[in-house]
Amino acid sequence: MQIISFKNYEELSGYAADFIANSIKNKPNLVLCMASGSTPALTCGLLIQKLKEAKIDYSKFTFLGLDEWVGLPPTNTGSCHYFFQRKIFEPLQLSSSQYFLFNALSDDLKSECIKMDKVIADKDGIDIMVVGIGMNGHIGFNEPGTSFDNLSHVIELDEITKSVGQKYFDEPVELSKGITIGFGHLMNAKKVFLMANGSKKAEVIKKTIEGPLAESFPASILQKHPDGYILIDEEAGSLLKKDK
Ligand code: PGA
Repeated sequence: MQIISFKNYEELSGYAADFIANSIKNKPNLVLCMASGSTPALTCGLLIQKLKEAKIDYSKFTFLGLDEWVGLPPTNTGSCHYFFQRKIFEPLQLSSSQYFLFNALSDDLKSECIKMDKVIADKDGIDIMVVGIGMNGHIGFNEPGTSFDNLSHVIELDEITKSVGQKYFDEPVELSKGITIGFGHLMNAKKVFLMANGSKKAEVIKKTIEGPLAESFPASILQKHPDGYILIDEEAGSLLKKDK
């Protein structure tokens, strides 16, 4: 695990966007798995800009959405589907064969998980995974206590996730379950970027880096990823020991 510190959110996002764009340039059939949410929002915008400005061929890469709120339709403005539709698929006019998201409205969520696991296996794994971190240390909907070995799965959401998650919605919604790509896939991803910005993430970043490796604090899994990077701005890194 390596820590890369940036002055601010803009620089952090620019680094991630440039890295992803250059990786697509070098490997056009790259498999990218991304989280939605406030943290990766600017990375998405800058990635689109970079791909277009540098005239990089993005017609062959594969996009995987990390997770989804169970029961929400893609038209809900707080859904992960809506986020990616607006921020990635429409601006790049991606073909629907190029992206894979969980159908959180399915009657058979188990088969949604199996489908996602099969896509990942068929594509020979994830090249780059870009994730955020929740206020309880979750990644995607890998909530505290989730096994580090899980593949795609459905999970009861933690109370913190249910309350913090309200920020994505225009009006209060009842959130109970999530469907997510699991840590078995994260550990097999060739490269992982965990991004965090702002002082509200300082405590969870400190635990991720300095705390014990434990399923009770999911993001600590980055400590054992062979090519895992924590990208932080000054505020998110403000509680770290100085020698880190
Ligand atoms: P955020 O979400 O990027 O909106 O802070 C992070 C998360 O809960 O995974």
